[in-house]
Amino acid sequence: MSGRSEEGSAWFPAARFGLFVHFGLYSLAARHEWVRSREAMTDADYDRYLERFDPDLFDAAALARAAREAGMRYAVLTAKHHDGFCLFDSKLTDYTSARVTGRDLVAEFAEAMRAEGLRVGLYYSLLDWRHPDFTVDRYHPLRDGVRPEEAAGRDMARYRAYMRGQVRELLTGYGPVDLLFFDFTYPAKGPAEWGAEELMAMVRDLRPGIVVNDRLGIPGDYVTPEQYQPDRPLTRDGAEVMWEACHTLNGSWGYDRDNHDYKSPDLLVRMLVQSVACGGNLLLNVGPTGRGALDPRAAQTLRAIGAWMSPHARAVHGAGPSAFEPPPNCLYTQRGDRLYLHLLAWPLRHVHLPGLAGRVRYAQLLHDGSEVRFDELDGAGHEHNNLAPPGRPPGTLTLTLPVVRPEVLLPVVELVLRDESR
Ligand code: GLC
Repeated sequence: MSGRSEEGSAWFPAARFGLFVHFGLYSLAARHEWVRSREAMTDADYDRYLERFDPDLFDAAALARAAREAGMRYAVLTAKHHDGFCLFDSKLTDYTSARVTGRDLVAEFAEAMRAEGLRVGLYYSLLDWRHPDFTVDRYHPLRDGVRPEEAAGRDMARYRAYMRGQVRELLTGYGPVDLLFFDFTYPAKGPAEWGAEELMAMVRDLRPGIVVNDRLGIPGDYVTPEQYQPDRPLTRDGAEVMWEACHTLNGSWGYDRDNHDYKSPDLLVRMLVQSVACGGNLLLNVGPTGRGALDPRAAQTLRAIGAWMSPHARAVHGAGPSAFEPPPNCLYTQRGDRLYLHLLAWPLRHVHLPGLAGRVRYAQLLHDGSEVRFDELDGAGHEHNNLAPPGRPPGTLTLTLPVVRPEVLLPVVELVLRDESR
């Protein structure tokens, strides 16, 4: 057991922002990572991507640098997706990047992320459309064509053993893996088919401090809203849970050439801040091209987010929800005695913060450290200025902002509180 695994999962909620990387044979088709299922391709149909798989532009070091510069603290790579193709040197199948190209992309990825100080996560698909023992269900590409005698020969027990073997390979051959993202459980297959309890026990045994998601169909360490943005803390049996919203840049996880439905950097920053304000993380996906490169649109988006993160990171990393109620069009994140006011819409000169009178020591715009002046209104004795309209509740703190909105994706005021109370 390494020191890292003894630290447990505290790094995960502190990190708040991670990179998801979907790369595989489907990246060559360039029309969504489910292409094999959607188009019901046979093995032979899909082999045309295997024959041409050449990730000559997959540069893990560049990917790691882009992630770090965007303010991300961890990254998760598809070690195996639903098509069954492995980006690692598995001894249990020939269907691997190592066999086709001599490259173990998981090894390259893990090493590069660690070199940039990022935590390493691996995605492992529970579905496997290539494995001969994975039974043919309605998602399976062979759903219309498989012969009954062949279907009868499929044995999920053998497939479960294969999964356990591969997960063991991933957790023992690639240094300290910090996170596992299993994917996914659906009506036809769940914990029983995956051997979920046994698999989870093995994972915990091999890496006691690892963070595991909830898609084995049994509770994990965190929950995974997908392409869905929670607007309040998530709970299970009344207790708050760790969560991570995973989002695409354009609706597809795998490279999707003709899909131009890109989320803007400012929307993505708001999604990140809303996650933090609700006690969650954001795992933002990129789908490298068929040759493995980050496409220009993804690279540009990461750079734009990085330009915001660079001065604003402390409102994100290690921050979480605040018990203070934000005014309209605002979000709060808090870390200790620092309360961060994120201004989703730029107000005219003044913003009124209920409950904060007497609680704030100092205020500044976070991007440039320029002081923001404030008045504490007692609800009655405000005749000396024009700041408080009648009816403003006692205890309101009023900030005076510049008329012109700062040119950042999301302006933030840092409020230094007199104590750490939330
Ligand atoms: C879904 C999709 C899959 C994608 C994943 C990411 O489960 O099946 O293609 O990898 O979401 O969370």
